[in-house]
This record gives sequence, structure tokens and C-alpha cells, in this order.
Amino acid sequence: MHERSELPEPDADALRHSARLSALIRERISAAGGWIDFAEYMELALYAPGLGYYSAGAQKLGPAGDFVTAPEVSALFSRCLARSLAPTVGQTVDATVLELGAGSGAMAADVLHTLARDDALPERYLILEVSADLRQRQRETLTARVPELAPRVEWLDALPAPFDGVIVANEVADALPVSRFRIGAAATQQPRVQAVGVGIDASGFCWSDRPAGESLRNCVAEIEATLGAALPVGFTSEVSIGLPGLIGSLVDSLRNGRCILVDYGLVRGELYRLDRSSGTLRCHYRHRAHDDPFRYPGLQDITAWVDFTTIAVAAVAAGARVDAFATQAHFLIGAGIEHEFAAANAAATRGDSAGLALSQQMQMLLMPGQMGERFKVMQLACGESVAGPAPELVSGGGDLRDRL
Ligand SMILES: C[S@@+](CC[C@H](N)C(=O)[O-])C[C@H]1O[C@@H](n2cnc3c(N)ncnc32)[C@H](O)[C@@H]1O
Repeated sequence: MHERSELPEPDADALRHSARLSALIRERISAAGGWIDFAEYMELALYAPGLGYYSAGAQKLGPAGDFVTAPEVSALFSRCLARSLAPTVGQTVDATVLELGAGSGAMAADVLHTLARDDALPERYLILEVSADLRQRQRETLTARVPELAPRVEWLDALPAPFDGVIVANEVADALPVSRFRIGAAATQQPRVQAVGVGIDASGFCWSDRPAGESLRNCVAEIEATLGAALPVGFTSEVSIGLPGLIGSLVDSLRNGRCILVDYGLVRGELYRLDRSSGTLRCHYRHRAHDDPFRYPGLQDITAWVDFTTIAVAAVAAGARVDAFATQAHFLIGAGIEHEFAAANAAATRGDSAGLALSQQMQMLLMPGQMGERFKVMQLACGESVAGPAPELVSGGGDLRDRL
């Protein structure tokens, strides 16, 4: 992690942009009586129309942006994802693929290209993306990279009517706004669970505690029930209040098919382990990770690790099955990354740097210290006609469902 002072200074235009967003957030805080929940701050910082980090024109993803995601690291990731979707898509009449939060459009382009190669193209490829700026970027990527397949892609403003096929989302759950909580001392007159929200002091935005509302108190009670113990005084962490609702809606919109969610995260018992006593909130600015969400609002990404137990519970409550839960490394190996690597390597010109670059990409996707273990893949199945998971996904000790 880099200290605040090590962050590169944004240029004057970027600072002006950030100042406009800060003014909007300050207005909201004043209108609310001097305090807002952190989830509202995060929603505005990331998604305020025209100003939020994802809504406005900053580069965001890739080497020139603030962070990289697996589809940006290597097409090998999306090719493996496509291989795991192909049986469902290929066997479904009028199959639809729905991608949530498609970023630069790289994953959509590579998944469509691979499904076309493997003769399993869906009728429609839908993208539900909240950022107008990213929609435009996705259009440009698809038109440039897969012009013949781009006409199959449609952008949606809301989830579609129930369909048969697959839903995919990479690093979307970690971009949902989170509320923060802190456990207060029982001896004081304060309620035990405090919401750590945002106020304003002489230096700008600041952390400020208020008694937690009912939904946040219920989330903390669920965490403590899972741990089988009360969280200690001072323990601070985050919960994504909107995540169960999103998962329920995804399951409702999938009549028959699979939903594959990839994100960095843990099961609840590990995410809220006592040594993670200050939570997992992280900000990314030009490839530096730090933990100050009040620095450069609108210019940096803000994320928190995903509680996969919450996803599983919400999915089962909505009528889905959890068919697989594995590390990204296990998923990619099961989906055939070695075949994709061999094919891409054979296509690379002998002696050029493409072969070496491919090896480095594969390492980054698979190595435990990089993306291989921090990222998990959860596969949900909806509808009676969907067969169980591919055996390689749950074999070889890679099935983590019993930890959920
Ligand atoms: C961290 S980026 C990941 C982008 C891309 N999936 C990738 O892996 O490169 C998060 C993406 O989710 C989108 N997003 C956030 N909340 C969303 C929601 N509720 N529905 C759909 N997309 C959302 C963001 O605009 C952005 O495109």
C-alpha cells in the first residue's frame, strides 16, 4: 500500500472535476443535516451522473487508468469464461447472454469471439451498464474488435424479462456501494452498532459515527451469528446492503440457465475475521492502492471485498442452486486455460515477445499471490433443466461450497 503523500498529483482539469463532485456531495450532506451514510457517499463518488468516477470520462481500466481487471490482463480469462458458458449457450434455444458492468467491453468482445469460434453464439448479448461513458467505450471496443458480432449486442437500462441463457459479471459486486459499521463500547449510552458515515469538518469530508439503522444492525447480527461470537469493540468493516437485492433480481430474471460471478472476496466467516478489524475498503488511483475514500472524489475507484456467503444465501432464497464456488485459478484450469494458452502461444510469431507476454498474463491470472486465489468464481444454476456443474469445476479439492 502507498501512503497518501505518494499518490501522483492529478492535473488541473482533473482537480476541477473533483472539486465539482465534492461540491455536489457537500450539498447532499448539508441537505441531510450534516451526515450521510457511507454508501450514499460511495454512490455519488462513483456514479453521480456526469461526475462520478464510473460516470465521467476518466480512463479507469487498463495500464493508463487506475486498476486492471482479469479481462484487461488477458483475453485468456474471457476465452475460458466463454468455454464454460458454451455448453449452456449451445444447448439453449434462443440463448441470451447478459453481462453486468462490462467495463471497457474487452470481455464481451473476447467472449463473443470465442463463442463464435466454438459454434455456440447466443441469439443476443445484452449488457446492463450503469455508466453512460463506459457504454460508449464498450460500443467502440466491440465495433473495433468484433465488427461482425457487434450487432448482436444490446444495451439495457434495467434487467430484461425472464430469459434462458447465462448471466456473467466480473468485478461488479465489489463496485456496489457499501455501508460501514463500527462496534461501539457497550458501557456507553450509544447503541452498540454505529454507522460510520460521512460529515464535513475544517479539512473537508470526515468519518462520523451515528447509531446504525435497522438494516445495518441486522447485517451485523447475521455476521455475528455466522461467527458464533460478538464482534469486539472497535471492529470496523463494511456490508453491501444492496447485494442481496441485486442477486435476487438476477435469479428472478433467469428462467433457465447459469449465472457466473467473479470477484475478489471471501466467505463471511473469513471476511469478518477478527484480524480484519478495519475492513476491506480500498481505493485505487493510478495503480496505487490506499484507504482514503475522501481523496480526489471522482478520480479514484472505491471498492470493498465481496461477501460470497451473502450471494449464496440470497441466491438460494430466490430459488437458485449454488453449483460451484472455487478460486479463479481452479475455475480457469477447469475451463481449459492450458488449451487456450497453447493455442495462443502457437499463434504467436516465434521469437517475438508475445509468447513471453502470454506466460506473464497466465501467471497473473493463476498465481495465488496475484489473482488466482483472491478472486473467486461462484456459479448459480436456475431452473430444473440445468444440469449440475462441469465436473472439473468441483473436482480436485477445488470445491469451496462447504465453507460458505
Ligand atoms: C470494476 S468495474 C469492472 C468492469 C469489467 N467487468 C471488467 O472486469 O473489466 C465495475 C463495472 O460495474 C459497473 N456497475 C456498477 N454497478 C452496477 C450495476 N448495479 N449494474 C450494472 N453495472 C454496474 C460499472 O459501471 C463498471 O462497468
